[in-house]
Amino acid sequence: MLFIHLQVVRETPDRYHNGRVPIKSRQKRFHVFSSGFINSLTNNLITLIYKIMNLPYAEPFKTKMVENIYRSTKDQREKWIADASFNLFNLRSEQVYIDLLTDSGTGAMSDKQWASIMVGDESYAGSSSYYHLKEAIKELTGFDYFLPTHQGRAAENVLFSVLVKAGDIVPGNSHFDTTKGHIEFRKATAVDCTVDTASDTTSPNPFKGNVDTGKLENVLKATAADKISCVILTITNNTVGGQPVSMANIREVHKLSKKYGIRLIIDSARFAENAYFIKTREEGYADKDIRDIAREMFSYADGMTMSSKKDAIVNIGGFVGFRDEELFRQASTYNIIFEGFITYGGMSGRDMNALAQGLYEGTEFPYLESRIKQVAYLGQKMKEYGIPVLEPFGGHAIFIDAKRFIPDFPKEEFPAQTLALEFYIEGGIRGAEIGALMADRDPVTRANRYPALEMVRLALPRRVYSNNHMDYVAAVVRNVFEKRNDIRKGFKIIWEAPIMRHFTVKLDRV
Ligand SMILES: Cc1ncc(COP(=O)(O)O)c(C=O)c1O
Repeated sequence: MLFIHLQVVRETPDRYHNGRVPIKSRQKRFHVFSSGFINSLTNNLITLIYKIMNLPYAEPFKTKMVENIYRSTKDQREKWIADASFNLFNLRSEQVYIDLLTDSGTGAMSDKQWASIMVGDESYAGSSSYYHLKEAIKELTGFDYFLPTHQGRAAENVLFSVLVKAGDIVPGNSHFDTTKGHIEFRKATAVDCTVDTASDTTSPNPFKGNVDTGKLENVLKATAADKISCVILTITNNTVGGQPVSMANIREVHKLSKKYGIRLIIDSARFAENAYFIKTREEGYADKDIRDIAREMFSYADGMTMSSKKDAIVNIGGFVGFRDEELFRQASTYNIIFEGFITYGGMSGRDMNALAQGLYEGTEFPYLESRIKQVAYLGQKMKEYGIPVLEPFGGHAIFIDAKRFIPDFPKEEFPAQTLALEFYIEGGIRGAEIGALMADRDPVTRANRYPALEMVRLALPRRVYSNNHMDYVAAVVRNVFEKRNDIRKGFKIIWEAPIMRHFTVKLDRV
């Protein structure tokens, strides 16, 4: 009862009404009703009550609207994928039964997010929706300045236009592909300083997203400070399996960056999932509220880029957050050129409203628990079938280790892509290759890069699929696993773009 009462009280303020309420009064109400203290008290109480009553965990939401999805036959899928040049990005959505291509922009918005859309303020400058978002960002990250952008890579484009110059070095932990793309496009170099255990899919290290601070310091020592654009810390670390970065590591990276006079930027697409892992895995954080943990993470950074399509549970949107007014000013010019005026930058007022609401919902512990436990549910099913998956399970996806699934398969024939195609043909599941295709070519030598991890990512959209869908997905992968010795031939590239080739590549069977 207490839980229900507090939820109702906390979610009724006029954050998603027309925004004409004076900001001060709205802020005051928000602070009263969703302070970290009340949140953590509520969550701790629920956990305790569930324990005492011996009740299992269940989703903190119910379904209000449904969308049909389509089954197909194997023959149909074989034809469709050949017509799509064996690139899963080229399929039409109706040709896919369960779409696990990405968790980006594919989540289900809540009734409150939809309600907030109806009261979006579409003023060109100074809209109340912009101020809603500003308030939410300040509350959850501590950053005073921000620029809205249409998505995460646009945030990278705006920020890197100020920070990254040709010849620069940008150290970080397994930069995401668009991040690396923006760096390499500017003729700079991304240097990966992730811990070595990240490439061991069986290592139980709870924080495999961490930076190896020894590697980072070597880079910072060996390079003149004016040749280092910034350090980029991606939380969670998508590329190595949605693996979290510990608070201790964030703090260490902050100290090193300060020591060498370099800015630390957090790529924050899945910051709330990272905070959940800190709470559940790192000593000293069990009793802390997710939002307090988030604020602490951001307190170590000079800025952030955000793809709101992930942890803010919206279908489009992003932003850059800044501590420093001068950097904000410089980036504002690029925002105006590339995105739009600084109070909407690529987003409509209604989208900014939904994003502000989504930031609050995405940092609720019960929601995060349901999300991350669903990912683990799928991972556990696959493990029971003996399928080699990356462990510990990440925050947003299950990653299948292609090197262990089909061990003798030639790397030149793209084993993870081959498996992803098999899963589609077997059961209409669309995953994504995170391996040699995505790793692209070395910008200087143009040789193919073969990363340590060759994986198929099955990313779960937020609040979209049920555990019955997860059972189906695991069974499809199991069927392919049982026939793995028959998978002998892979794929060759017949056309590719000069950069970020995996999105548009055309393949054919070897
Ligand atoms: C860690 C990370 N950073 C940046 C991005 C880019 O964001 P967007 O797809 O919104 O452009 C993504 C997208 O998947 C991501 O996972």
